[in-house]
Amino acid sequence: MVSVAILGAAGGIGQPLSLLMKLNAGVTKLHLYDIVNVPGVAADISHVATNAEVQSFLGAGQLAAAVTKIDLAIIPAGVPRKPGMTRDDLFKINAGIVKTLVEAIAAHSPQAFIAVISNPVNSTVPIAAEVLKAKGVFDPRRLFGVTTLDVVRASRFARDLRPGVDAAALRVPVVGGHSGTTIVPLLSLASTRLGLSDEETEELTTRIQFGGDEVVKAKDGAGSATLSMAYAGARFADSLIRAINGDAVVEPAFIALAADPDGAKEVRGLGAGDLDYFAVPVELGPRGVQRIAQLGGAPTAFERKAIAVAAEALAANIKTGAAFVAGA
Ligand code: NAD
Ligand code: LMR
Repeated sequence: MVSVAILGAAGGIGQPLSLLMKLNAGVTKLHLYDIVNVPGVAADISHVATNAEVQSFLGAGQLAAAVTKIDLAIIPAGVPRKPGMTRDDLFKINAGIVKTLVEAIAAHSPQAFIAVISNPVNSTVPIAAEVLKAKGVFDPRRLFGVTTLDVVRASRFARDLRPGVDAAALRVPVVGGHSGTTIVPLLSLASTRLGLSDEETEELTTRIQFGGDEVVKAKDGAGSATLSMAYAGARFADSLIRAINGDAVVEPAFIALAADPDGAKEVRGLGAGDLDYFAVPVELGPRGVQRIAQLGGAPTAFERKAIAVAAEALAANIKTGAAFVAGA
């Protein structure tokens, strides 16, 4: 039984994610925090007939209370992209938001699991880690950048090419990071053999890497993925809650590789080099990252090349995040 805080709960992701977490039988307390509109969201969701107790927290003055005695903080706070923007363009605003929120978590629930949704994930996760390190409470097993939407897209887009595939059951490992070419789907290691030609592999890889742009373009200035992200975030949170309760569950996440030094060696061998963070399939357990999951085979030459491209961009993103805290 788990107490969950959603920080940014009144937003496009925050609202449906809050609803989905209210429906999760593993959640006993749901703290909804935002700087606007959250009393209405919380009142509305609190009428749903499940046992979780919902409480609203509005504005910086209530942040400490929002993150006190919680087991899991999910962070979708911050600005989304508009057409023409990259996720890195969000850094200026979202870096400071994530830093402030993680400082409060470190002070009031230092043992909490933290799941960061706010973009750019490749940099906001290192920001969170540096804040936790500075406060002396960093446990790499408990910090996650949520990359579930990338594997959700991989499963669904694969079905568009192979209509016989069950999108809900198909698992495609996606490694690297969460933006453009840092997203590397390992289609050759999908749980169902897809039998893709080289051309199909390239096409599907690019679609997965730039799936977020499809939504940003279609929303035409009104934001980025919210509903599919709420689904993905709720799936990640449910997996973590089940793992806390003793189930063996595998989900992807962008993690600090220090969480599993043995597994990290294999990931480095794939081309992650000396990076400190990488998105990988993770076996979750009661303490968070139990170990980095086996990929079940060797990536192809095409996939290894894509990992090398991802690693170069990721190194810069990670450095930017860490430097933000060091220089603050
Ligand atoms: P949104 O603008 O609809 O909602 C963001 C919410 O954050 C708003 O309610 C806002 O009031 C709140 N907020 C702003 N500053 C805050 C603060 N200091 N403390 C608490 N709350 C604060 O945006 P959205 O569509 O929900 O997207 C949120 C973030 O999630 C964006 O950065 C977006 O890029 C990211 N995102 C990530 C993924 C992923 O796969 N990881 C997917 C989709 C979106
Ligand atoms: C996504 O992948 O949909 C999110 O990271 C939002 C975005 O900016 O594309």
